[in-house]
Amino acid sequence: MSTPRITALVTGGNNGIGLAVCQLFSAQPNYHCIMGSRSLEKGQKALESIKSSNSSSAISLVQLDITSDDSIASAVEEVKAKHGHLDVLINNAGVCPVDFSRSVLRDCLDTNAISPALVTQAFAPLLLKSSNARIIYVSSALGSIQKRGDPDYMAYDADFKTYRISKAALNMLAACDAWEYKDKIKVFAFCPGYVITDLAGEREAKEKAGIAKTPDGSARGLLAIAEGKRDAENGLFLHDEKLGELYPW
Ligand SMILES: NC(=O)c1ccc[n+]([C@@H]2O[C@H](COP(=O)([O-])OP(=O)(O)OC[C@H]3O[C@@H](n4cnc5c(N)ncnc54)[C@H](OP(=O)(O)O)[C@@H]3O)[C@@H](O)[C@H]2O)c1
Repeated sequence: MSTPRITALVTGGNNGIGLAVCQLFSAQPNYHCIMGSRSLEKGQKALESIKSSNSSSAISLVQLDITSDDSIASAVEEVKAKHGHLDVLINNAGVCPVDFSRSVLRDCLDTNAISPALVTQAFAPLLLKSSNARIIYVSSALGSIQKRGDPDYMAYDADFKTYRISKAALNMLAACDAWEYKDKIKVFAFCPGYVITDLAGEREAKEKAGIAKTPDGSARGLLAIAEGKRDAENGLFLHDEKLGELYPW
């Protein structure tokens, strides 16, 4: 009898870290990866790029704008109809505005904290049908309240107030969901590291600085969590790939 596939959904799967996750997960023999993309056109291109580098990738696409309740509801119906359940939910989609004003802060909180909360709430019935479900919130060390005051932290001198507030809220969401789904679903917050992507329009600066990593390392870290290698750290704020690599809230 063949092993049942693990079904994983990645929000913001069409670009950056999400795309690397879709590439890695869909190449695993026992996974089916669902790429969530708010633009079907961008998602289709990303899906084709994955298929062209590995034609046996187990991957599909779902339209998912995490700030739209209608889009979330349709994505849930589509995943339910095609798979009947969900094993891994990776709340990865995010933004990093550099300005600070009411509207910028409100939009950032909507994308980075409110929407992941509602995505999880909507997919919870499908996750609860899995015998071994995991939710991963892609957070950032910039959201650590303790690290904000640590002069030894490499981003101590950086501002990013809007983004920090939103990721601190996301961390609390992870802690609340770990409590809410205790014994039913494992829940993690995960920092993917300082990674070269389009986030905050910093790609060029990160490439020049030479200290940022490529997204494939972040994807390996997320696969380790999906595989259960970090289950002992359920409910905590993780980074990197190994057990014991934790950040303070
Ligand atoms: N890069 C880093 O150094 C770093 C460090 C720590 C944490 N992170 C976190 O990692 C996650 C991924 O970021 P990234 O670096 O890969 O950035 P990215 O390349 O800019 O990708 C962000 C993804 O989120 C999607 N997205 C944004 N708003 C969305 C919405 N309303 N609905 C659905 N999708 C939406 C984007 O879709 P579009 O293509 O349609 O815009 C894109 O696919 C974020 O949560 C970020 O905060 C990144």
